[in-house]
Amino acid sequence: MVNAYFNEQNSADIVTGQNTNAKDERLREVMEVVTRHLHAAVKEIEPTQEEWMQAIQFLTATGHKCDDWRQEYILLSDVLGISMLVDAVNSRRPAGASENTVLGPFHIGGTPEYEMGTNICLDGKGEDLVVRGRILDVKGNPVEGAKIDVWQANDEGFYDVQQKGIQPDFNLRGVFRTGADGTYWFKAVRPRHYSIPTDGPVGKLLEDLGRHPYRPAHLHYIISKDGYDEVTTHIFDPDDPYIDSDAVFGVKKSLIATFNKVNDAERIKAVGLSGEYYWDVEFDFVLAPKG
Ligand code: BEZ
Ligand code: FE
Repeated sequence: MVNAYFNEQNSADIVTGQNTNAKDERLREVMEVVTRHLHAAVKEIEPTQEEWMQAIQFLTATGHKCDDWRQEYILLSDVLGISMLVDAVNSRRPAGASENTVLGPFHIGGTPEYEMGTNICLDGKGEDLVVRGRILDVKGNPVEGAKIDVWQANDEGFYDVQQKGIQPDFNLRGVFRTGADGTYWFKAVRPRHYSIPTDGPVGKLLEDLGRHPYRPAHLHYIISKDGYDEVTTHIFDPDDPYIDSDAVFGVKKSLIATFNKVNDAERIKAVGLSGEYYWDVEFDFVLAPKG
């Protein structure tokens, strides 16, 4: 005989009370919190059996949509703001240090390392962009030997990996390494906003919730150097129509850049471009010491 059997009031206590012999204390703690919050949600929502079955079917369809390339659960985590929240609790940094944002699914290994100033746009399509800045420590000193891994969508809002055979492999991707002065620069194209994948249950959920699936135009960066916290981040275009409503909540004020139009012939020539203008973005990153 147990002291009490399961009922509506004691439900969470009864379930979590069965976990006292858990082999892993962290697992027990996590499952206790998750169970309590789920039970509280059910008590507040009071789902019908049909609604509960709909939820089960949604999660089942989300799993079925996953394969080696597509991760619908991460997408679900993204649109619920969970990816950004997990990132926030894991990347608390001193004031002044660059902030993280979501990694996203389009980072790949094997990106070529280039000399500073290289144009990472391999197909010549889009409006020219020059991105430049410094990698600094929190005291304002230049960081030498920082690795800068950048990738971005093209001016139609697609990554190279989404358009195999249309865009060249490694289009709009590059790895750069800072010298003693901590500066970096490269040429690219002004990116465009794009839709996260909508052909699965997460896309349907957004539609049913009356939400759009767009991410504002951005460039991705991973900046790393031994002894410093790795920064996985973006810089954003402030003029993008979706800057205030990112579908995955990745925008932070400190990551919004300024895109200045340069049409001075001397400057265009000096950066090795030949069009009538280019967009110029200057953006510094500040690395916090590890830990
Ligand atoms: C991205 O920025 O590449 C991205 C982030 C989250 C979901 C989909 C795409
Ligand atoms: Fe992206």
